[in-house]
Amino acid sequence: MKLPVAELHIHLEGTLEPEAILRLAAQNGVTLPWPSLEQLREQYDFSNLQSFLDLFYTNLAVLRTRADFHEITLAYLRRAEAAGVRHVELFFDPQAHLERGIGLGEVVGGIREALHEGEKRFGITHKLIACFWRHAPAASAMEILRTLIAEGHDVDGIGLDSSELGYPPALFREVFDYARDHGLHVVAHAGEEGPPEYIVQALDLLKVERIDHGIRCLEDPTLVERLVAEQMPLTVCPLSNVRLRTVDTMADHPLRQMLEAGLKVSIHSDDPAYFGGYLDANFAAVIGQFELSREEQAVLARNSIESSFLEEPAKSRLCAEVDLWLSAEGRDL
Ligand code: HPA
Ligand code: ZN
Repeated sequence: MKLPVAELHIHLEGTLEPEAILRLAAQNGVTLPWPSLEQLREQYDFSNLQSFLDLFYTNLAVLRTRADFHEITLAYLRRAEAAGVRHVELFFDPQAHLERGIGLGEVVGGIREALHEGEKRFGITHKLIACFWRHAPAASAMEILRTLIAEGHDVDGIGLDSSELGYPPALFREVFDYARDHGLHVVAHAGEEGPPEYIVQALDLLKVERIDHGIRCLEDPTLVERLVAEQMPLTVCPLSNVRLRTVDTMADHPLRQMLEAGLKVSIHSDDPAYFGGYLDANFAAVIGQFELSREEQAVLARNSIESSFLEEPAKSRLCAEVDLWLSAEGRDL
């Protein structure tokens, strides 16, 4: 039996594997600056968040049609099932596709169809979250959000991603007010490269339900106390943090400190095709590094489920499966 988990921090565009990038480029007549797999793979050496984002945004030029979005979503779900994912809350970047002339209907429609198909085939339930670029003006996010709602596109929430430093959450206050007023869930990347103050702003001004990353909270003990008291979910992505040099090595990752502080931490994969692995690889990395007990692994899995936007009784059902996994202790169920 695999440990059942909810994947809450995963960018669809970050699941685009190098092989798929080249295949879609050929299929769609898109010319990339790196024509061979070898040359493409050489680009995957990052010095910080921006160096990754530059490659990530260039590569997604290969996504052109509704069928492309369908195909990559289904490919992700197939891989996620193998990693034990039972529920996913999938991010996508609407601005990245709109600026290339692809309609919201094709993007959201293609992804949603695949999510429904994946639910039947792999038993993975789902939510879909549109992430806005913090490096773009808030007016752009607002316009797209209004369109998503007015045209009835099937999204469950909004998030905030892309370059963090210099783009504080405060810039997006009205966008998040509008989203909450229209019944959407709200999350935001904060405290990945940005200071603890950005986490405070995301909580106070955007009134988010989860913080994506949030690892820099540890620099502010008052903030840690608050996050613990509120049991605010933090979706931590260990392999991403190492590959983007937010931490030097896995040994320097603050996961154990975060758990010991009583923070509601869960483990996720961010952009698995870029950072060296899916959810199972992220779990394996922290289990190996921090010698996590089965009970600690179960805590991380329960946190992911409890931090999700699933309703009851789905949450309790999945948590019961975690208990079953824990009691199985080495026995194959
Ligand atoms: N951080 C910010 N923006 C992103 C990321 C990330 O890790 N992945 C895709 N967009
Ligand atoms: Zn992310």
